[in-house]
Amino acid sequence: MRIAEPTRFRSRSVYLVLILLLLIGTGIYAGYQVKFDQDARIRATALTMGDPDLGRRLAKRYGCAGCHNIPGVPGAQGMVGPSLQGFAARVYIGGVATNSPDTLIQWIENPRSIDPKTAMPVTGISRAEARHVAAYLYTLQ
Ligand code: HEC
Repeated sequence: MRIAEPTRFRSRSVYLVLILLLLIGTGIYAGYQVKFDQDARIRATALTMGDPDLGRRLAKRYGCAGCHNIPGVPGAQGMVGPSLQGFAARVYIGGVATNSPDTLIQWIENPRSIDPKTAMPVTGISRAEARHVAAYLYTLQ
């Protein structure tokens, strides 16, 4: 009995240390994630001069969500067009034009002016609004 007690105590401390390490690890990861998201937003805003938060809401209003899967936009599970997850790292837009802020804004406003054969329609979004949506898409890493 006397030997058992310190052993039980030691194993409990091991658990406590493990839990503590897990909490510290989670904290560091969460902090890193927040910093990563902030950097992405600053970069996206600088690239487009648009407002990512407004863009996220506009993506819902103009029906982008009906055709695309867009992380962060509630209900955006559309399967008609490609998923826009990780769009910031995409090399081409619609497989035809190099992914740059100006081209993306033009694509969102009028995709057929870039590729007349694309299935993506003109949604009626204005150029100014397309700028905000582009800002949001560039936060998707
Ligand atoms: C009726 C369905 C439909 C709607 C609505 C729609 N899209 Fe698309 N979208 C598509 C299709 C289909 C493609 C693929 C086009 C191609 O490859 O020619 C596409 C392609 C794209 C691409 C290029 C993706 C890539 O990886 O190359 C972007 C960006 C995009 N859409 C953004 C938007 C935004 C923003 C809106 C809302 C303003 C929107 N789309 C509305 C169907 C749609």
